Amino acid sequence: MINIVLFGKPGAGKGTQAEFLKERYNLTHLSTGDIFRFNIKNETELGKLAKSYMDNGDLVPDQVTIKILEDTVNKNPNTKGFLFDGFPRTLAQAEALDAFLSTKNWEVAATIALEADDEILIQRLLERGKTSGRPDDQDQVKIRNRYQEYNEKTAPLMEYYNKQNKFYPVNGIGTIAEITERLSAVVERL
Ligand code: AP5
Ligand code: MG
Repeated sequence: MINIVLFGKPGAGKGTQAEFLKERYNLTHLSTGDIFRFNIKNETELGKLAKSYMDNGDLVPDQVTIKILEDTVNKNPNTKGFLFDGFPRTLAQAEALDAFLSTKNWEVAATIALEADDEILIQRLLERGKTSGRPDDQDQVKIRNRYQEYNEKTAPLMEYYNKQNKFYPVNGIGTIAEITERLSAVVERL
């Protein structure tokens, strides 16, 4: 069992890299953003609630997000491990994740962070916004709000995991393949 948190600002490449890492290490990719978008597409109650936050680039409330995370983990009891992407994003989520995993005698093995400057990432998101259909990618104000949410609420998690000696920063600029190798080098050492 090996659980990895893929950490990084909006657009850092978490989802892109998760696609490669899940194959290489036989892990279950769990992206809270993807789960919310799936629910928005299917017009569920959860989707309606999440949309009201996501479209503006605000975080969805912890209570809702933690519940979704736990339900999804519980649906995959036989996995070799999870690749958490976009979760946790607040201190409350990180604490809830640790507490929840420990009830199963599991833990987060490592938090690997993709590092890159905001301005490069904002360009990536605006570019993707031309075709993605994601309302939160299409407007500079909303995109900047996502970075503000990250800086205020998510960035403190670096210290949270650092204190547990579980924080591994990786250069997030380069080709997708180069970055997969950098991440893999960390995973191999765990
Ligand atoms: P979420 O879906 O998690 O989005 P995000 O983290 O804001 O950003 P992305 O998913 O767009 O970035 P990414 O790091 O996955 O990068 P990607 O690989 O896509 O969250 C969306 C919203 O849902 C939140 O704002 C919030 O409202 C809600 N939410 C989700 N989780 C939550 C939680 N835990 N708590 C509360 N609310 C939550 O790549 C980005 C682009 O860059 C792509 O176009 C890609 O092709 C390109 N790219 C990737 N790698 C490279 C590279 N090496 N070089 C050049 N381009 C690259
Ligand atoms: Mg993503």
